[in-house]
Amino acid sequence: MAHRWKNTLTHRDVTPKAAFMNRRQVMAGLAAGVGLAGVGGAAHAQDALVPNSYEDITQYNNYYEFGTGKDDPAANAHRLTTAPWTVKIDGLVDAPGDYAFGDIMNAMTIEERIYRFRCVEAWSMVIPWNGFELADLLQMVGVQSGAKYVAFETALRPDEMPGVRYPVLDWPYVEGLRLDEAMHPLTIMATGIYGKDIPNQNGAPMRLVVPWKYGFKSIKSIVRITLTDREPPTSWNKANAGEYGFYSNVNPEVSHPRWSQATERPVGGGLFAKRKPTLMFNGYEQEVASLYEGMDLKANF
Ligand code: MTE
Repeated sequence: MAHRWKNTLTHRDVTPKAAFMNRRQVMAGLAAGVGLAGVGGAAHAQDALVPNSYEDITQYNNYYEFGTGKDDPAANAHRLTTAPWTVKIDGLVDAPGDYAFGDIMNAMTIEERIYRFRCVEAWSMVIPWNGFELADLLQMVGVQSGAKYVAFETALRPDEMPGVRYPVLDWPYVEGLRLDEAMHPLTIMATGIYGKDIPNQNGAPMRLVVPWKYGFKSIKSIVRITLTDREPPTSWNKANAGEYGFYSNVNPEVSHPRWSQATERPVGGGLFAKRKPTLMFNGYEQEVASLYEGMDLKANF
């Protein structure tokens, strides 16, 4: 599989053998002061990244349709029926329709991407996703020239989702990206973790992953994708526009109104895990900063 993005890892890169083979590189990086997170512009700290355990990734979740506790999704999401699964793709596309998830999978190239994941609540993980580039799916259906944004919608199944009884959010969960963000090669639809089908609590059968944005942009269990010419509404912005903007790019310099975003707590590090500095665009500045050239990132949070 081609790995065009220097700032992503493959699982191979973190197996003991590969780690051994890369040792010289890692040591060189450390010596140069770029191997440790927190050094300014340490976007190339990837050689020091170690993915979280499968347990961390699948037992500590946010998926409010199954409850607001971190362990609720793992306890309740088994109720979600994920087969058959259909994704409606509509709006400004050449080939709108109801696409069977299996047909999408057959048409896409699945690869592994090891990404940093930063929740707006200031915890973080490193996750080895399997999935395909969203751009490939959008190209398959043909994006029309008037399209400027992509809207996403999660399934809404009151019988299977105990959390939607509570009006914590205005269900269904919805999210959106600007078209250039959606087409960016770092933006993927994740369908697996550690080489296994993605568990329900993580957003089966497919969920968005946009690694330079806060985790809530990474909408789970997607049933609809709409190409549109208008900025689509997003769930957390509807719930509290003063706290959650449309862009939600990870930015250590722009605080959440109720807490700082300058540092983060790595999940799974144990009781004595140190907080670490949060990186601009979550460490993907080199790849994505140009998308926001000339934009006031404080006003467009
Ligand atoms: N998608 C839906 N449908 N419902 C949710 O509650 N939570 C978001 C995002 N996607 C959420 C969602 C938030 S706040 C985060 S941090 C991530 O999912 C968590 O993803 P993870 O549980 O796989 O780590």
